[in-house]
Amino acid sequence: MNRIYWGGATASSQYEGAYEEGKGLDTQDCRPYLPRTSNATTTTRLLTQAVIDEAKASTDQFYPFRKGSLGVEHCQEDIELLAELGLDIYRFSISWARLFPTGEESTPNQAGVDYYDQVFKLLKEKNIKVFLTMNHYAVPLAIVENYRGWTNKKTIALYVKFAEFVFKRWGDYVDFWLPFNEINAGYFSPYNGVGLVKLEEAGYKFQDVFQSLHHQFVASARVIKLGRELGLRGEFGAMVSCFCYYPNTTKPEDNLKMVQDEQVNQWFCMDVLSNGVYPYYMQPFFKQHDVVLETTEEELALLKEHTCDFVSFSYYSSAISSVTEEGQQTAGNLVVTTKNPHLKASEWGWQIDPIGLRTTLHKVYDRYQKPVMIAENGFGAHDELTTTGEIHDDYRIAYFKEHFDEILAAQSEGVDIRAYFAWGIIDIVSAGSCEMGKRYGVIYVDADNQGHGTYNRYKKDSFYWYQNFIKEQHQSE
Ligand code: BG6
Repeated sequence: MNRIYWGGATASSQYEGAYEEGKGLDTQDCRPYLPRTSNATTTTRLLTQAVIDEAKASTDQFYPFRKGSLGVEHCQEDIELLAELGLDIYRFSISWARLFPTGEESTPNQAGVDYYDQVFKLLKEKNIKVFLTMNHYAVPLAIVENYRGWTNKKTIALYVKFAEFVFKRWGDYVDFWLPFNEINAGYFSPYNGVGLVKLEEAGYKFQDVFQSLHHQFVASARVIKLGRELGLRGEFGAMVSCFCYYPNTTKPEDNLKMVQDEQVNQWFCMDVLSNGVYPYYMQPFFKQHDVVLETTEEELALLKEHTCDFVSFSYYSSAISSVTEEGQQTAGNLVVTTKNPHLKASEWGWQIDPIGLRTTLHKVYDRYQKPVMIAENGFGAHDELTTTGEIHDDYRIAYFKEHFDEILAAQSEGVDIRAYFAWGIIDIVSAGSCEMGKRYGVIYVDADNQGHGTYNRYKKDSFYWYQNFIKEQHQSE
């Protein structure tokens, strides 16, 4: 049995801040903090030209992704804390716009290069392995304005140029590469996923969404090819967000709906990236939604030849498939779903389902027969910092414990699990709702939704719990 690497994860736009240091504006930088009015997961507005213009001009709105957790400023202290925690592996992402502010420059922004030089060096000193996400949502805004994001094939070339720089500069440091975070987010949240400016009030055209996804598949295959040609030692992965669907009732119609929801929402992108071909079920879906993909023979051959080495997914909560509108709705990561009466939910409505994680591990391994990684998992909650600098997050410890038990059970049942990453290991800005108050970390960052606070770091109770858990896992090897 392989050992599981126990890790933690962040994303550049949610963590780094330092937006003035030569970085270009990206899509996340255009999202202001807007108080949530309901239990909604997201306050993401559509990326219209008006939103972009407002973001460029605005002086009185707070844009949380421009500040993140002040990670650039605190990175040395943070990596020392990750080492003290005993992490085997750290997942983080490179900010495209920090290196290439408009995506088109021929030489990168030196301040960005210096920052990542420092991060990789510190991680190596601390003997922490690296899982690097090349692109976690944020797209340089200039690419969106000039080319309509990933709808344009030109964006593939710009992404490959960015990747080539990263490979050549930091290739030796990286153990696992991920070309795109949650690639299926392009479908649920085109703003984040494919950097698509909304053109018409009625919504995005499916044509644009799926053409953009096709371009991301090709970009993924092209960088895998390049990485292999350069002889990089790291392995390449693919990642989707998983929702562990249940049929709402035992009605056969609900069961069929579940299978079809899983296919389109969950498996489609991974089927392409892992199997190298578009799955059979997408042809009728495309037909039904008037999608005519523009593909070339060369692109399809690339997809076939350069598939991923490992598969990974994010998992926070489970969802329900139903042919009727019956039942109360609740939020979940990327999807809105029907409430499951057997599950409790977080304050944001995300239903807590540890067995769903074990089920997902089996489904993913069964389907792809490749090593599996849980690239994200965790519990978003409001935490309270006591006057003596403690955070008693027993709810997060309970979430970890229940989920870890199921991971270890799946492993003993034969699933080849390589790594687990606790999401937002250091408190970061929420990708869905732009709040600092929705915290996942075992390390607390003293800041509020409006960016006020000392940004000092504090160890939560879950820090000591996870530290001890990792120690015990190592002892039992
Ligand atoms: C995943 C994203 O979908 O969910 C992360 O990859 C995100 O970027 C995470 O932070 C949790 O979502 P949220 O909205 O609670 O931050």
